[in-house]
Formats: sequence, C-alpha cells, structure tokens
Amino acid sequence: MTQSDSRPSPLPLLVLGRGTDLHTERGVECPGDLPAPSDPGLVERARAAKAALGDQVFVLGHHYQRDEVIEFADVTGDSFKLAKDAAARPDAPYIVFCGVHFMAESADILTSDEQTVILPDLAAGCSMADMAAIRQVEDAWDDLVEAGVADRTIPVTYMNSSAAIKAFTGRHGGTICTSSNARTALTWALDQAGEGGKVLFLPDQHLGRNTYVRDLGGELDGCVVFDPHKPMGGLTRQELEDATMILWRGHCSVHGRFSLAAVEQARREIPDVKVIVHPECQHEVVEAADEVGSTEKIIKTIAAAPAGTKWVVGTELNLVRRLAAQFPEQQISFLEKNVCYCSTMNRIDLPHLVWTLESLVAGRVVNPIRVDPDVAHHARVALDQMLALPGETHRD
Ligand code: 13P
Ligand code: SF4
Repeated sequence: MTQSDSRPSPLPLLVLGRGTDLHTERGVECPGDLPAPSDPGLVERARAAKAALGDQVFVLGHHYQRDEVIEFADVTGDSFKLAKDAAARPDAPYIVFCGVHFMAESADILTSDEQTVILPDLAAGCSMADMAAIRQVEDAWDDLVEAGVADRTIPVTYMNSSAAIKAFTGRHGGTICTSSNARTALTWALDQAGEGGKVLFLPDQHLGRNTYVRDLGGELDGCVVFDPHKPMGGLTRQELEDATMILWRGHCSVHGRFSLAAVEQARREIPDVKVIVHPECQHEVVEAADEVGSTEKIIKTIAAAPAGTKWVVGTELNLVRRLAAQFPEQQISFLEKNVCYCSTMNRIDLPHLVWTLESLVAGRVVNPIRVDPDVAHHARVALDQMLALPGETHRD
C-alpha cells in the first residue's frame, strides 16, 4: 500500500503515522483539542484539572507508564494490583486507566455500573492480547472437542487478553491469572482437570511454559504449542493427548526480544551481577536469570536488596529507568540494547491525560470503556475465580 492509497487496511493491525487513513489509526482522533506535547503548561493543566475533579476521579497507573503520567497516578501497580485497586474504589465515578485496553476492560468488569472507566488513548492496546481472537479460540476449543480432550481441559487465561476471551474462560470453568499469581492459578486448574487433565493456556506461551516448568517442576515436553493459524493447531491427536500444557502461540513483542546472549554478556561484563526478568521472557532467558517475577515483584526485590547490588533487568524500559532513578545506591542496567519501550503503553502521554481530565471537568466523558453486559458477566466469573484462588491470591 502506498502513502497515497487511503483504502482501509484489510488487516486488524494498527498502522500508525499515515494520516491519510483514519480507519487505520483507531483512537488517534480525539474529539476536542488534544494539547500539543510541547505545551509548557501541560503539567500545570493536569494538576489544575485533577484538583478540580477531586474525588470524582481516580487515576490508575501501570508500572510501564511514562514518568509524566505516573506523576498523576493515585495508585501504581501491576495488572493484578490495579484490577483490585479499581474494584476497591466504588465511590469514584470516573476511573482513568493509564495502562492498556485489556486492563481498562477488566477494571470496567470489576467496577459498578455507575462507574465509568476511561482509557486516555484507545490505541493503547497490547500486541500479545491481539494474538488471540475470540473466533480463533472458539475454533481451537472445537479442535480439542474433536480430539477428545476438551472435557479434561481447563482454560487459564492471562489477564493480557480481550474481555471476550475472559468470558470464554468463564464459560468453560477456567480462571484468569496474572504474572503475580500464575503458579497458584495453574496449580488450581491442574487440580480441577484431574488425572490426565490439561490446561489450555492463553495467550502467552512463555508465561504458561515458564510457570509450569519453573514454578511447578513440570517437564518441558509436557508442553505443546497450539498455532491458531494451522488446522488442529498444527498438532496431532496424540500430541494433544500426551500434553499437559496446551500453550497458545502468543508472546509479548517487548519481552520476547530479551535474549540468552544478553544475559550471558551481562554476566561476563558485570561481576556479581543479578539478572531479574519478567516471566513473559523466553524460557531460556528465564532459566538463565537469578530472579523471575511480575513488575511488582521486580520492584520489591530491588527495593529490598542491599545498597551496591548490581542488577540487570529484563522488563519494559520505562520501569527500568524509573528503578534506576529511584535506587541510585544500586547499579541498575537494562538487559538488552535492542529492546525499547512498550509502544502501546507509551500511547498514554501527558497530552492525552490532560485532554481526558479537562474533558471531564467540562462535563464530557471521552474514551469510555464499556464491555458488553453478557461478555462482562462471564468474564467476571473467570476474574472472580482468580480473586478466589486458594491460598495466596497475590503472589509476586
Ligand atoms: P504485570 O502483570 O507484571 O503488570 O505485566 C503486565 C504486562 O503487560 C507485562 O507485559
Ligand atoms: Fe502487551 Fe507486552 Fe506491552 Fe505488556 S509489554 S502491554 S504484554 S505488548
């Protein structure tokens, strides 16, 4: 497609920067005035709007957000903590979610009908969540039925997924998990599945594999990867029969780029270094690391370490930079030279936050996230199952 060709993209991709084709720039168009990033008064405008709104608004900030946005967050956290924080504020009519679309959907599902969840830029999606479409997941389930294994399979779906897939999970007796509680969720699901039972883990193959092998002591060859673009996932009936973990072929485009070579290089170049990575990284990276955990665990581990500890961190760059600034007594480096910010998390910037808050002050609700009530009902079943998991519900 050339620059002048303005046909809508036939692909469900977010193609940015063309200007000529607004259909491909979902969420880029903001009704009203989006302030210029260069406006020197932005910080003051955000402060004034937030003060004018008072308790009417509650701002949530995921750890991967830019500093300029985190500054205005009432709470920060990983996806699990923010879901709980949203549910714990029934008094706030407006929840501004500075994170990505699936997080705002989950907040909408967990909050009351009287509350409105707002995503400052609708283009803040998640490439991993987009790797599993509900139609594909339903087709995959039909394949499992045909292979005779569906009645022994429990879906475990990572928070990083659409509300429709969370609803699918609720309908099929499964649970949602986050990187904080994946071990508990998987233990519960395998127990539910019974003798010879299986888990269909969606959509992040790495979190599923890492949790099964590293946390539960499972065998790597107990895992198969289901490719939604191939008939029967590219697997034979026997492979499905023999597997314990059926991993959806999805990954994070940020964490998937951290490499074993970078871990080895860090160990060569920094004596006594400790490597800490997010469980969305590839299995070989996780195996080579000293510590593995959610964003919340990464922060707590570094905060608790003695001064002078040398860290190499494999997670999103906004968070790693903030850690380096917050803990100057520790030596903190980024694991890989060629990995940068999560581009969709970075869609939420100060101009979009100011636009959102000032619109609320003017009585206009922009970018509300409203999940269809039937979808929300079934997704809530799976989210509530996560919140009711036995034992520790919030494991870092
Ligand atoms: P957390 O569950 O650690 O917040 O991670 C969410 C996410 O999107 C990681 O890429
Ligand atoms: Fe999605 Fe990866 Fe960005 Fe997290 S870091 S929001 S999983 S693309």
